[in-house]
Amino acid sequence: MAAVPEPTLARAAELRATLHHHAHRYYVLDDPGIPDAEYDRLFQELQALENEHPELRTPDSPTQRVGGAPLPQFTPVRHAVPMLSIRTETDTEASGALNFDARIRRELGLSDADAPVQYVAEPKFDGLALSLRYAHGVLVQAATRGDGEVGEDVTQNIRTVPQVPLKLQGVDFAVLEVRGEVYMRRDAFDKLNASQRARGDKVFINPRNAAAGAVRQLDPAIAAQRPLSFFAYGLGEVTPASEGGPAFPTHLAMLHTLKTWGFPVSALVQACDGATDLVAYHAHIGQLRDSLPFDIDGVVYKVNRVALQRQLGFVSREPRWAVAHKYPAQEQLTTVLAIEVQVGRTGKLTPVAKLAPVFVGGVTVTNATLHNEDEARRKDVRVGDTVIVRRAGDVIPEVVAVLPEKRLQDAQLFTMPRQCPVCGSDAVREDLNGESSADYRCTGGLFCSAQRKEAILHFAQRRAVEIEGLGDKLVEQLVDANTVRTLPDLYRLGLTALASLDRMADKSAQNLLAALEKSKQTTLPRFLFGLGIRHVGEATAKALARHFGTLDAVMGATLDQLLEVNDVGPVVAQSLRTFFDQPHNREVVEQLRDCGVHWPEQPPDDSTPKPLAGLTFVITGTLPTLGRDDAKARIEAAGGKVSGAVSKKTSYLLAGEAAGSKLDKARELGVAVIDEDTLKGLLA
Ligand code: IVH
Repeated sequence: MAAVPEPTLARAAELRATLHHHAHRYYVLDDPGIPDAEYDRLFQELQALENEHPELRTPDSPTQRVGGAPLPQFTPVRHAVPMLSIRTETDTEASGALNFDARIRRELGLSDADAPVQYVAEPKFDGLALSLRYAHGVLVQAATRGDGEVGEDVTQNIRTVPQVPLKLQGVDFAVLEVRGEVYMRRDAFDKLNASQRARGDKVFINPRNAAAGAVRQLDPAIAAQRPLSFFAYGLGEVTPASEGGPAFPTHLAMLHTLKTWGFPVSALVQACDGATDLVAYHAHIGQLRDSLPFDIDGVVYKVNRVALQRQLGFVSREPRWAVAHKYPAQEQLTTVLAIEVQVGRTGKLTPVAKLAPVFVGGVTVTNATLHNEDEARRKDVRVGDTVIVRRAGDVIPEVVAVLPEKRLQDAQLFTMPRQCPVCGSDAVREDLNGESSADYRCTGGLFCSAQRKEAILHFAQRRAVEIEGLGDKLVEQLVDANTVRTLPDLYRLGLTALASLDRMADKSAQNLLAALEKSKQTTLPRFLFGLGIRHVGEATAKALARHFGTLDAVMGATLDQLLEVNDVGPVVAQSLRTFFDQPHNREVVEQLRDCGVHWPEQPPDDSTPKPLAGLTFVITGTLPTLGRDDAKARIEAAGGKVSGAVSKKTSYLLAGEAAGSKLDKARELGVAVIDEDTLKGLLA
């Protein structure tokens, strides 16, 4: 046999050491240093080298072990039946399922003429494998997987998991080991991290990591505060049928029985006939992935008939009858090329990490928000750093952690600029009621072109005066060319100025002019909202318009008068006063009116009675005569508020035909439910 070349030997040794290091951090310390996808890549590289040169396969190679050694603080538990791992199809396309089916058929000696093999497909939950041991139906031990042979006794912590039954009804076998995954739901994870952050404690990278930390907490009281969930998916040691134990002909039958015994079994488990169904399942769950309440990293296919599972048997530590089929990883490594500071409409400065492009969660990511200075400091992200980026669902990509060992020596601590990067005005960390906020703001106001662009887009949006066709590319050009400096400049645009812009055909220029003309006829609430006064959203703009009737009355109102408006508190009132006290803002308003922006007068209705003042309504279902918008308008005209969701603060749920979950919720919370006639009674 040819000797293994020196560089290959060295690479294998390096991979073994790196994988050992990271496996220890992942399995033993619950503190992963690199994303799973990166670990898998290194693992596969070593596997490939070992396949090519079997003499490299040392007994201590990470490829020959499952998981990590147990922590010395926990009592070791030797598993009566080893806890296996499953082969992974890394090919995330349909071929993963096709390969598995082809392999099973070959190993079972089936020809194309034979019927499809029956499988069970399940989500691959991203948590920790757990073995629950019951003696005569009573939970006596919970153990982690450890290295597959020996795990850790975590019974005390697992007893605090509500979904793990402590006593089984009608089960009296001497031994029953149920295996499954303990995991943390995403909502529980977010809550946990929020409170960790508030206390200045370590935040967890992902729900799996948080679950691992909770399961292996030395203090069960702390474990109990970290809400965990459980799904059952298999069995370990069980009293044999010959001695009165259960016998299951299929995996599915076993899962059904586990459910009747009180174990949570995922509703996403599905019987599949042959490869076609597996492919469809993989695609279907892939679509659901982001909206599930918990993380999954793939799906698992299992041969359904137990007799066939036996026939297929095992290779080393993996059953031949099961396979994991992964989805694109939601965490990847990349490097930080730069940290830029962006300026929002209200002048808020947001640090954004510019990343070397990386494919994560199904898309190529090049930016990740760092939110604010505190957040950027807490994570201590620096230019040149190697970082873990996470993108799950539609949530904006995030830097979850920095790899300190990869930091360049001269990497500089990030500091927020004290000047706006766009206009050079001072950037200040503002005080909110005496407390310093996390945000820096550019003080340049509309002098700052970044704020100007955002202010124009805000004014032009559909919910404000609506200027159709005025998008961000166009605004960018108009502001950069200094053609538009203030909102009224929009209405001074002529055909020549517009047609000279990049990619602006005559026709589009005419359309834009028509849209501008159309936008001049608006309503007072839309106009007020469009001005982009801080803290003045659509609802507040409506309330102001209703209360004061005219723009001049709003502009002239004192703080006290503003505070009389339903829904206007001290922060909003102050913000309005500050805005209208600035001469240049009053100027903008005057000029807009001079340009022809107008709205129908509406009489102030502070004289009209407000029978519904202080009441909050939610509308659901189809009402007999009133449209939803009508009902809303009438409630608001009578001083009431309409909100979208039922809560304890809801005064009445106005319910019509085919009311759904909101009605259930109202009943649950004891919120009064009324019909259209009753509403009319209240209005009279
Ligand atoms: S079955 C003999 N089913 O994936 C087969 N495992 O490497 C034993 N996992 O550590 C495992 N969801 O923690 C199985 N529906 C599922 C699973 C699942 C997640 C995990 C399990 C194990 C790893 C397999």
